Amino acid sequence: VKVLLLGQSGQLGQALLAAPPDDSQLTAQLTTQLTTQVTTQVTTMSRQAMDLSEVDQIPARLDQHQPDLIINAAAYTQVDPAESEPTLAHRINAEAPARMAQWAARHQARLIHVSTDFVFDGQRGQAYRPDDPPAPLSVYGRSKLAGEQAVLASGARVVVLRTAWLYSAVGHNFAKTMLRLMAERDSLSIVSDQIGCPTHADSLARAIWRTAAHKEVSGIHHWSDAGVASWYDFALAIREQALARGLLKQAATIHPIPAREFPQKAPRPANSLLDCFDTRRALGLEAAHWREELNHMLETLSCADS
Ligand SMILES: NC(=O)c1ccc[n+]([C@@H]2O[C@H](COP(=O)([O-])OP(=O)(O)OC[C@H]3O[C@@H](n4cnc5c(N)ncnc54)[C@H](OP(=O)(O)O)[C@@H]3O)[C@@H](O)[C@H]2O)c1
Repeated sequence: VKVLLLGQSGQLGQALLAAPPDDSQLTAQLTTQLTTQVTTQVTTMSRQAMDLSEVDQIPARLDQHQPDLIINAAAYTQVDPAESEPTLAHRINAEAPARMAQWAARHQARLIHVSTDFVFDGQRGQAYRPDDPPAPLSVYGRSKLAGEQAVLASGARVVVLRTAWLYSAVGHNFAKTMLRLMAERDSLSIVSDQIGCPTHADSLARAIWRTAAHKEVSGIHHWSDAGVASWYDFALAIREQALARGLLKQAATIHPIPAREFPQKAPRPANSLLDCFDTRRALGLEAAHWREELNHMLETLSCADS
C-alpha cells in the first residue's frame, strides 16, 4: 500500500512518522488458504514539494506519487490569524483537500482527512456525535467544515477524522506553552469554562494507522483521548506531572478564569467534547485517559531533556 502523508512536519505528521503503520491489520485475505502480508510504504511531501495554497498544482503532484492512500495531516491551523486571512485558510483547508479527494475519486485511492471540533459551536450539553449539525464560530472552523463537505461530496473513499485539543512533544501546543509559562512566571490565569479532551498526537496517529488498515471504515469519525477536562484542569495536571518528573522546579499558582476574561480574536466552542464510541468500536481500538497520555508525552520530553 503506497501511502502519501501530507503535513509531515506538524505535530500529527511527526507522530504518524514515528508510529509504525498497523501492518498486522493490513493483512489481505486473498483466498481462504492464502494470506499475504501487505506492507505499507510511506512517502511524504513537504510544503516545499507541494504548497497546498497552490491548489492547481495538486493533481500533478499526486500523479507523480500515485498513492493508494492519502493521509492529509496538513492544514492552516493558526486559529486567530485565520480571522484576518480567510481566503488563504479556505484555500488550504477546503480547496486543497477537495482537489485531493477529486484525484482520489479518479484513481480509486482513499483519503483520510483530519478535521476538528471547531466545526461545532460548543452549545450542546453532551459530547458531539459525528452526525450532529456543525455550526462553526470562526474562520478556521468554517474553512475546516468546507473541507469536510468537499471531500465527502467528491465520490472518493473518504474518512473525515475529527479530533480536538491536540498536543505532542514536538510543535506548538497548549501543554508546551504551559510548561514554558510555568517556568517563567509565579502565577497564571487559565480558562476553566471551556471543556474538551486533550488528545495526544501519538494516540491520534495510532487511530489513523488503524483506520488505514480498516478499509471498510468511511464517512465522519471522531477521535480524542478518553475523559473530560477544562483548560484549567489540563494546566493543573501538566503542573502536577511536570513537577513529579523534575521538568518544573517550582509550582506556579494557577487561577481559574472565565473565557470572557481571556479574549481571543477567534471565538472558541465552550464544549469541544467528541463522542468517539462508534469510532473506537469500528477500529477495535480503545483510547487511554488523557492523563495517561499526558504522562507519555512528558516522558518523551524528559527523555529528550536527559
Ligand atoms: N492542533 C490542534 O489542537 C488541533 C485540534 C483539532 C484538529 N486539528 C487538526 O489536526 C490536523 C493536524 O494538526 P497539527 O496540530 O498537527 O498541525 P500543525 O502542527 O500546525 O502542522 C500543520 C502542518 O500543515 C503544513 N502546512 C501548513 N500550511 C501548508 C501549506 N500551505 N502547504 C503545505 N503544507 C502546509 C505544515 O507545514 P509547515 O511545517 O511547512 O508549516 C505542517 O506540516 C489538522 O487538520 C488540524 O486542523 C488540530
